[in-house]
Amino acid sequence: MHIRSASGLDRLIVADTGLSDVDGESGRLVIRGHLVEALAEHASFEDVCALLWNDKWPSRAEREVIRAFLAAARQEAFALLGSLGNALSAADGMEALRAATGHLSASADIKEDAIRLTGALPVFAAAWARTRAGQPPSAPLPSLSHAADYLQMLSGIVPETPCVRALDAYLCCVVDHGMNASTFTARVVASTGSDLVSAVVAAIGALKGPLHGGAPGPVLDMLDAIGRPEHARPWLEAELAAGRRIMGMGHRVYRVRDPRAAALESAISVLERTSAGGERLTLARAVEREAEHLLAEQYPTRKLRANVEFYTAVLLEAIGIPRTLFSPTFALSRVAGWCAHVNEQRSVGRLIRPASRYVGPAVLEPGLHAG
Ligand code: COA
Repeated sequence: MHIRSASGLDRLIVADTGLSDVDGESGRLVIRGHLVEALAEHASFEDVCALLWNDKWPSRAEREVIRAFLAAARQEAFALLGSLGNALSAADGMEALRAATGHLSASADIKEDAIRLTGALPVFAAAWARTRAGQPPSAPLPSLSHAADYLQMLSGIVPETPCVRALDAYLCCVVDHGMNASTFTARVVASTGSDLVSAVVAAIGALKGPLHGGAPGPVLDMLDAIGRPEHARPWLEAELAAGRRIMGMGHRVYRVRDPRAAALESAISVLERTSAGGERLTLARAVEREAEHLLAEQYPTRKLRANVEFYTAVLLEAIGIPRTLFSPTFALSRVAGWCAHVNEQRSVGRLIRPASRYVGPAVLEPGLHAG
């Protein structure tokens, strides 16, 4: 069965899901009954994990349980760092993450594995970044939340609350997003009866591709190249004239502004009031305005608006995450969504086996083989 939207977008439905709903026409993302904007403003990463894994908003006690489980999982992963072979010496962060995650073993308990994987990814990402910078890994601190500890493991310093809040907003925004390529990958692997670690390793491989999670780095490159709001228009015009795409604009599903762009933009405004991020945000807003205008002129029938990656770049930079860690930081949130989808796929218990249309050569008549 296909969905055909008002804009003629035709997409194949491959699963029923109770996890998230992406409405590309009205720009609405719902995660287990909650609008993404509300989650970005009020929830922590632990809350969205509980929502996706336990099917409901956590009580205070449930939140504490999940926080303690994730803290223990980070410590367990940190103890494994010495036995990851050369996984963390990869030049690319996603390659390191894929290789390191492949060292984890799967158990018979999918909930335990979900916590182990979700706890491990920030530890591996931070250890990779510090190793590349010639610094020893910084041990996780069990008293910190997942977001705070990731920042602490990166910098070696316990972060300020506004930075933690901004990271939580980001993690809540990207934790799940319908049947995107990496989630579909995880569900295909799960549908064969394989284990959660295998599904997550495959999903990391899908997310690694530049068409899925790789735009925020180039968005920052673009902001660097533009430099000042008044340079935005001529710079963007030259890019479009050269046939290049404007990073952070356009989306396969959204035909309006990505709701996560708005949620992240307001998280940055809050951060700006309390600490860093001000000038970049002003520049980013000017670039978005000009880009939207120029794209509307060039593609009057398509609606190319800002996507999540546009403000992701500004937010992650403002809280001190290096560009090389943008995709791994995306992964350490999305892993919670992958785990929930694998669990859901398991309950369906049916192999995903799409069809292809054969367009190869016609079958040769038997006699023609001889010559
Ligand atoms: N800049 C300039 N032109 C763009 C564009 C952009 N950001 N996004 C789409 N277009 C143009 C394409 O060149 C194409 O033009 P053509 O018909 O003349 O070849 C047309 O619009 C295709 O539009 P659409 O069908 O909506 O795009 P898509 O679904 O194939 O691609 C993206 C979606 C996200 C891959 C695309 O918008 C893009 O490359 N954006 C920039 C990268 C980015 O931000 N990625 C992160 C996504 S979350």
